[in-house]
Amino acid sequence: MKANRTFKTLLSLLWLPALALACQDKAASKPASKEWWQTAQFYQIYPRSFKDSNGDGIGDLNGITSELEYLKDLGVTAAWLSPIFKSPMVDFGYDISDFYDIQPEYGTLDDFRALIKRANELGIKIILDFVPNHSSDENVWFKKSVARERGYEDYYVWHDGRLNSSTGKREPPTNWNQYFRGTAWQWNEQRGQYYLHQFAVQQPDLNYRNPAVVEQMKRVLRYWLKEGVAGFRCDALPPLFEVQRDAQGQYPDEELTNAIEDVEDRAYLTTKYIENQPETVDMVYQWRQVLDDHQRIFGGDAGVLLIETYSPAWFTMQFYGNSSVNGAHLPFNFNFITVMEQGPLSASNVQLAIDLWLQNMPAGRTANWVLGNHDKRRAASRYGVEHIDAMNMLVMVLPGASVTYQGEELGMTDGWISWEDTVDPWGCNSDAQNYEHYTRDPERTPFHWSSGKNAGFSTGERTWLPLAADYETINVASEEAATHSHLKIYKSLVALRRSSTILQNGSVKYRAHTEEVFVVKRTLAGAGSIVYAANFGAAKVSVDLREFDKTLPSTLKLLIRSVGASKTEGQSYSVSHLELDAGEALLLATN
Ligand code: GLC
Repeated sequence: MKANRTFKTLLSLLWLPALALACQDKAASKPASKEWWQTAQFYQIYPRSFKDSNGDGIGDLNGITSELEYLKDLGVTAAWLSPIFKSPMVDFGYDISDFYDIQPEYGTLDDFRALIKRANELGIKIILDFVPNHSSDENVWFKKSVARERGYEDYYVWHDGRLNSSTGKREPPTNWNQYFRGTAWQWNEQRGQYYLHQFAVQQPDLNYRNPAVVEQMKRVLRYWLKEGVAGFRCDALPPLFEVQRDAQGQYPDEELTNAIEDVEDRAYLTTKYIENQPETVDMVYQWRQVLDDHQRIFGGDAGVLLIETYSPAWFTMQFYGNSSVNGAHLPFNFNFITVMEQGPLSASNVQLAIDLWLQNMPAGRTANWVLGNHDKRRAASRYGVEHIDAMNMLVMVLPGASVTYQGEELGMTDGWISWEDTVDPWGCNSDAQNYEHYTRDPERTPFHWSSGKNAGFSTGERTWLPLAADYETINVASEEAATHSHLKIYKSLVALRRSSTILQNGSVKYRAHTEEVFVVKRTLAGAGSIVYAANFGAAKVSVDLREFDKTLPSTLKLLIRSVGASKTEGQSYSVSHLELDAGEALLLATN
């Protein structure tokens, strides 16, 4: 009784319009007309940490090529690679010094072509990371801009700064903070001006109010499309444009959020003028045009745009496009990261995360579900290893595309990295006491192929980041050998998703049945239903799924179960007395 009251109170705190729709069947999009990306299984590779082919302790392209069979075996449709372009590696590839070349420690253009060729043979699409907001300060464009070379004067966001009337000294143009802590402006002695950098000081922001920059970056897209890539994951979209300068050429200061006391933190100030500008949305529509034109001219499958944004729904959803224009195919849905960070893992939090996407998504667009990436603590560490199967099942049972970050299929957890070994600029810009709050190194440790030397990642003496401590038990080889493992469950899920018309085209109904138990039902007329039930609580429960859906038959057949669940696949279980152990997750079917 008390638990029920608490659950109701919690639900009442949620966004109310969300509840109205949560229990209704939603019309499925028309069967048979889906494009490849609408039901795809995407897989993110962090190249530095996936597989090292030459023993230098750093992952590389030939390493990826040698493991494409693994992706094929997982059932992955498309892999997106974090940046592989030439870079001084201050932000591990997100600081690009040549957008048209490959980072030598990752390989050569020929290695890349070999990777694409092998991926094509295996039917796996390759998607590259497109980093439009900034370049490296070692990029020739920046050097030319510093020197005010003709055509490059306004390639970056330059400003004289402002004079402090009391001290008479020159100061940065605004109070804006970068993401990695501290001011977003850097004085350049040679040019005699400040430049804007929303990320590290070595990552100057490109100036999208300059048509030459817009055209150059479209050239980058066309160049890699010609090399055979299947689309782009577009990096860091919110800060692409800043607000227009006023008539005097000045930018406005941001206001205090009063949410945080650390003056160097980005969250210390609002980001009204430096994020989420309307011009950014329009730029994505222009990139979509580049991809569509490429397909029109050269044929082949559609190239996709995946958008990285942690912006609120009112902004994020615009990336999809509107009734007159197409935008990104899939703006990443990070709700399973961001919404669920706000509270403990619970069925109502899961419901909120789903509601916030499905109810804000424009009609006719495709949903997607992401559990993690190279910027966030690993899924198994955030949710708890005991819930990784439940979460992998959830993203694959919901309608639309799903995205896996390397290692989520194994239940890999974060590594622990000492201050001495910390290399991520966000961590390094902090200090020995506080770096763990900022650093992204723990989720970037090398992939676990086996329990052997360096987890089978590298034959070298050292790896660029130390391994996570649990590699001897959580790795591909041992999970392949086990009769039941996270990896095996993941593979069954992908296979089911690929073969099931219910999962591809069925309607969806879902609900936080109690505070602990979350239920999803997918139904397709003539094909039956698939039901997901997961217990996120710490105690065994018995639920009556007829309360969730009266039309369910008295029993359902078990298709897939989480590791440790004592039920048997193929057997039937009671719908009105479905027992779920703590952490247990099941996929069941009507026939
Ligand atoms: C994105 C990337 C992140 C990088 C930043 C700057 O958020 O995912 O890793 O540091 O952009 O490019």
